[in-house]
Amino acid sequence: MPDSIPDTVTDALADVPVEGATALEAGAGVGNGTAGLLAAGAETVYSVTDEADHARTVRERCPGASALQADLRAVPLPDDTIDVVLAHGLFNVLPNETAAAVATELTRVVAPGGWLVLDDYDPHPPDSRIRRLYAVENALAELARARPAYVFHPAEELRALFTGHGWIHERTATLLDPVPWTHEHMQAHADAARRAATAVPDELADPLLERAERLAAEGEDPTGRMYSLALRYDE
Ligand SMILES: C[S@@+](CC[C@H](N)C(=O)[O-])C[C@H]1O[C@@H](n2cnc3c(N)ncnc32)[C@H](O)[C@@H]1O
Repeated sequence: MPDSIPDTVTDALADVPVEGATALEAGAGVGNGTAGLLAAGAETVYSVTDEADHARTVRERCPGASALQADLRAVPLPDDTIDVVLAHGLFNVLPNETAAAVATELTRVVAPGGWLVLDDYDPHPPDSRIRRLYAVENALAELARARPAYVFHPAEELRALFTGHGWIHERTATLLDPVPWTHEHMQAHADAARRAATAVPDELADPLLERAERLAAEGEDPTGRMYSLALRYDE
């Protein structure tokens, strides 16, 4: 059965020279980007995640790739070796200090002339329900672990982060507009809020959870934009 690769991955890679490349998916998740890189003809694909179960899932789904469990702040690959880096939905789960360290590492491993594809979400409109739901998750994450669960960057901000490391901006494209935040997405975020709440005292967690459940119960909230940045490293 053919692998179901999200259109956002396929579209983001369509104008990038992946054929024959040595590629890295930074932040593997379930391996959507890894599957996309292989389907686009990459010769070698490394897939890095810090979660053991994600690395296991990628090994099963994409036996043609090398799934590595590692922190992207210290990528276990030599300097100047990667032709294409794909970070599909990674930067929104990194606190700012981690994002800065990951940008340095991705720049270290890329070969001269290499490409970087950054697919992520602009901050959601301030009055949207999905934004308020993420805010509840962030409040619980801050109370539980003193760090946010999500940080959404405008495309211009990630562009500036990487051009500051010497990358050249090639293009910015829109992958989804609006992003179809479905009923299932809303429920999944309410569930994540419930899990985060287990580490927070009840008197703080309960009103936040009530708010999360109310926001999710109202159903889908299509809004905001998913973008794709492509940059080239011409050191
Ligand atoms: C939202 S998922 C990415 C989804 C995936 N790229 C896709 O297209 O389906 C984020 C991934 O990044 C990983 N991650 C987050 N912070 C990391 C870090 N500091 N080092 C390595 N992996 C990290 C998470 O464990 C997870 O596998």
